[in-house]
Amino acid sequence: MKGLIFVGGLSLNDVVQKVEELPALPHVTYRVLELTSRPDTTLSQLTEVITQDQVLTAKVLRMANSVYYGYARRIYGITEALLILGFSTVRNLVMAASVYNVMDREIQGYFLPRGELWKHSMSTALIARSLAQKTGYELPDQAFVAGLLHDMGKIILNTYMNEKFEDVISKVTTENIPFMAAEQEILGFDHALTGARVAEKWNLPSELVEAIANHHTPSLAKHNPRLTSVVHVADAASMSMGIGLGGDGLLYPFDGFATELLGLTGKIIEETIAEIADSLVDSETMIEN
Ligand SMILES: [Fe+2]
Ligand SMILES: [Fe+2]
Repeated sequence: MKGLIFVGGLSLNDVVQKVEELPALPHVTYRVLELTSRPDTTLSQLTEVITQDQVLTAKVLRMANSVYYGYARRIYGITEALLILGFSTVRNLVMAASVYNVMDREIQGYFLPRGELWKHSMSTALIARSLAQKTGYELPDQAFVAGLLHDMGKIILNTYMNEKFEDVISKVTTENIPFMAAEQEILGFDHALTGARVAEKWNLPSELVEAIANHHTPSLAKHNPRLTSVVHVADAASMSMGIGLGGDGLLYPFDGFATELLGLTGKIIEETIAEIADSLVDSETMIEN
């Protein structure tokens, strides 16, 4: 196992161990996941649970407005959001908002420009949702969350391996090599594996864990290769727009396995990129909040 490799005093297992110090996802998140998976849950039950956490409520409403109905209308309350967006969308927004809440509070290292990663994550999420819809993937909101979280390992590494991770970033920029290769070389493991381990620890659904783990290697996905492929293509598309760290967009090609599985052509991908440009401008307002 790669966790046995020690670099700079910290192994992957040490990093994951450190993650034990990360706060757990809030209890309310698990309650929401539980309630939304039961068919007899009522609107008022769910509203009551979500509104127990004011920060979460605000974030969910902001995401709902910015991402889904940016310029069409405003959503002012959780009950309204549930009515308009439906249980499964709100469930996904709660999950994404919770993870970001915990991570936002924990970021100590600043080698990653925070706005950049957020922009990259958000554009990947939006492209993933749109590609899911276009290719008939039945859970586009799940694809959105997977896109939003795919690089969460970078935040973890940025926080716990400060200097080593700075070396990774400078290697990417100066030697012009892909991010994963630089991580493997310097750390002995990469952000995909790190993110997946943490997602697992937080009991995120196994399909999300897999998509995070294999977003650079979609052909390795066993459980839900379609979801992983959607995230991979969305990630590469976001990179090709120049939205990514270290400017390694050109070094990160689309994996033929993923485009073939989804039946995607370059034209569809280009159209999707053009479509999400507007939503992206809108979502930038969320960075500071
Ligand atoms: Fe990545
Ligand atoms: Fe990425």
